[in-house]
Amino acid sequence: VKDGYETFMDKEIHEQPKAVAETLRGRTSLDGRLHLDELRIDESVLRSVDKIIVVACGTAAYAGHVAKYAIEHWCRVPVEVELAHEFRYRDPVVNEKTLVVAISQSGETMDTLMAIRHAREQGSKVLAIVNTHGSTIARESDAVLYTHAGPEVAVASTKAFIAQITACYLLGLYLSELRGNKYVDEVATYLDELGKMPSRIEEVLAEEEQVRTLARSMADVTSVLFLGRHVGFPVALEGALKLKELAYIHAEGFAAGELKHGPIALIEEGLPVFVIVPTPRRPLLHSKVISNLQEVKARGARVIVIAEEGDEEAASYATRVFWVPRSTPTLMMPLVTVVPLQIFACELASVKGYDVDKPRNLAKSVTVE
Ligand code: F6R
Repeated sequence: VKDGYETFMDKEIHEQPKAVAETLRGRTSLDGRLHLDELRIDESVLRSVDKIIVVACGTAAYAGHVAKYAIEHWCRVPVEVELAHEFRYRDPVVNEKTLVVAISQSGETMDTLMAIRHAREQGSKVLAIVNTHGSTIARESDAVLYTHAGPEVAVASTKAFIAQITACYLLGLYLSELRGNKYVDEVATYLDELGKMPSRIEEVLAEEEQVRTLARSMADVTSVLFLGRHVGFPVALEGALKLKELAYIHAEGFAAGELKHGPIALIEEGLPVFVIVPTPRRPLLHSKVISNLQEVKARGARVIVIAEEGDEEAASYATRVFWVPRSTPTLMMPLVTVVPLQIFACELASVKGYDVDKPRNLAKSVTVE
């Protein structure tokens, strides 16, 4: 069942290129057109939507954060991302012009289910991005865009996360095409780039031994920080969550720009800080994160950088660097930058002797509120 891997999590991390490829399969064609026939929400409704709210929990909510950057950029429609349990018990402004997108691997998360029930009562259409066929969230939504990641057995989500992000890109590009937005001419280019992501993830996986070596040298750490900006921010949050869940280490993810507004006080000699660096092809974003690197380095942190191959400037501040392939579009970088963080958490947990597939206190699907 584990295909020669020691744990399901290991196996599922390695299935990520396939999870992306399968999620794209049949939905993109060589002519650069998108086929999302399964979106059985009237096109006129999708055209008139004036707000999108993504509801989800945990890792799925971080996929939603990535979706916000992509969908707002491509579609020029406001996107909010909200934890499903917070959405449900305040008084959210939703109506027939709101599209609620629920993201869930299991399709059984009670918090998310209650949020979509509430949204539908207010007249919103609900589109579910779900991995499990026939699950409750799939059945109770107006339309379903399935992630074809295959069954995820390890409690901590990896390949489902990657597939959720992929599905969100498809949704964003589809809406952009449908609504005739200014990026519509670029849809084919983005689809082409998406098609290259499985091999880019393979490239990152090929370097896994270096990440594992680092993890093995860090079995004694008690706290780890993760910093990212733009789409690197949700990746930082996910890196921290994986480490908490699997290795039971205190970890926090921050928006890099927030550092000087407080968290920088935490930086001390030897503290491991992961920094997800945007591509130098986006100089404005890049230079900001370089400044953050300088700030943490100057205070003696052990800086671990995830950067685009050849980014020597970022590397010059790093104790360790892990490269991701060059020329990945910025919006798609989470699909590659998250991979070293997953491997790091998985290896560190194994080194500490913990059950990577079944972390303490957690369940694969959370069917209570
Ligand atoms: C983290 C993790 C959880 C889930 C969350 C939502 O590794 O697995 O944070 O992402 O409980 O679960 P689903 O996606 O099944 O709704």
